[in-house]
Amino acid sequence: MKAIVVNDEAAGTAGMTLAERPEPKAAINDVVVEVHASGWISTELEWPSTWTDRADQNRAPSTPGHELAGLVASLGYGTTGLSVGQRVFGLADWHRNGTLAEYVAIEARNLAPLPGDIDFTVGASLPISGLTAWQGLFQHGRLQAGQSVLAHGAAGAVGTMVTQLAREAGAYVIGTGRAADRDKALDFGAHEFIDLENDALEDVGQVDLVFDVIGGDVQRRSAAMIKAGGSLVSIVGPVEARPADGLAVDFVVEADRAELGEIARRVQDGRLRTNIGTTTTLDDAVAAFNATERAKGKTVVRMRP
Ligand SMILES: NC(=O)c1ccc[n+]([C@@H]2O[C@H](COP(=O)([O-])OP(=O)(O)OC[C@H]3O[C@@H](n4cnc5c(N)ncnc54)[C@H](OP(=O)(O)O)[C@@H]3O)[C@@H](O)[C@H]2O)c1
Repeated sequence: MKAIVVNDEAAGTAGMTLAERPEPKAAINDVVVEVHASGWISTELEWPSTWTDRADQNRAPSTPGHELAGLVASLGYGTTGLSVGQRVFGLADWHRNGTLAEYVAIEARNLAPLPGDIDFTVGASLPISGLTAWQGLFQHGRLQAGQSVLAHGAAGAVGTMVTQLAREAGAYVIGTGRAADRDKALDFGAHEFIDLENDALEDVGQVDLVFDVIGGDVQRRSAAMIKAGGSLVSIVGPVEARPADGLAVDFVVEADRAELGEIARRVQDGRLRTNIGTTTTLDDAVAAFNATERAKGKTVVRMRP
């Protein structure tokens, strides 16, 4: 099968090649999925799990990509809950070969059925951004209706999901980003927008929940704006600052079939829009990832026409 492989951590996306690789086998409780589309996050080649397995052994050459939509091609020993030919989408294991390939082996529990009216491109754009927003807001951030959310990077892949889910849950959403992100953030449902390069963040006042996708100074300043009992939720590594009287948590998104179902239902009935910036093919993906202009929104790679 065709797959993108990486061998050299220092080379970044410039070190990616499209290669012929053996098709994966389904292990216990796995399925093999015929991948139709894969989402891509530009920071993935910096994650240790791209380079080492769970025993911290080098696993290069590895195939990156963790979001997928496709068809179940085969079942592993003991696998239940999914059937051959079924449309699925989900989040592949960080430490295994990924979804920038024609086939991927993945634990069945990391997948959910993909409804027939959501196409594979949209399906592949949802798992990481959608689950990260869901878990950050409702599980880690304990968001309640009537609370305020400071959604950093609100025009980005995760930020647009955070904005829509928080607003639907009855929160007041203040989106942030660069000046050029204003219209997009408001279009995805932010009640107001702060241009981090030109506006004073502190003018927002106190908020219940900060959802941070940026880190550094933005995070430190945001932590000081959290109300008593509020939360700082970071998805960019260990928190660098804590609210004076509140919770600080950093987390890595986990696969969850029920939550994927919640996300799919919202896409079906129009409550949730995805934020796809670029679509490409497997043949053209390496060139697309190495484009000089930074892609806005999610990049989705189509494996099949
Ligand atoms: N822990 C987890 O489970 C998890 C899950 C998903 C993502 N992540 C991480 O979260 C981060 C965001 O992911 P994403 O997919 O949402 O990325 P993205 O689509 O690039 O969104 C990030 C947004 O924040 C903006 N931004 C970044 N730095 C900024 C700054 N200093 N001032 C103003 N705006 C700024 C970006 O603008 P520009 O494009 O103009 O820079 C972009 O609009 C990445 O580091 C990713 O690796 C972690």
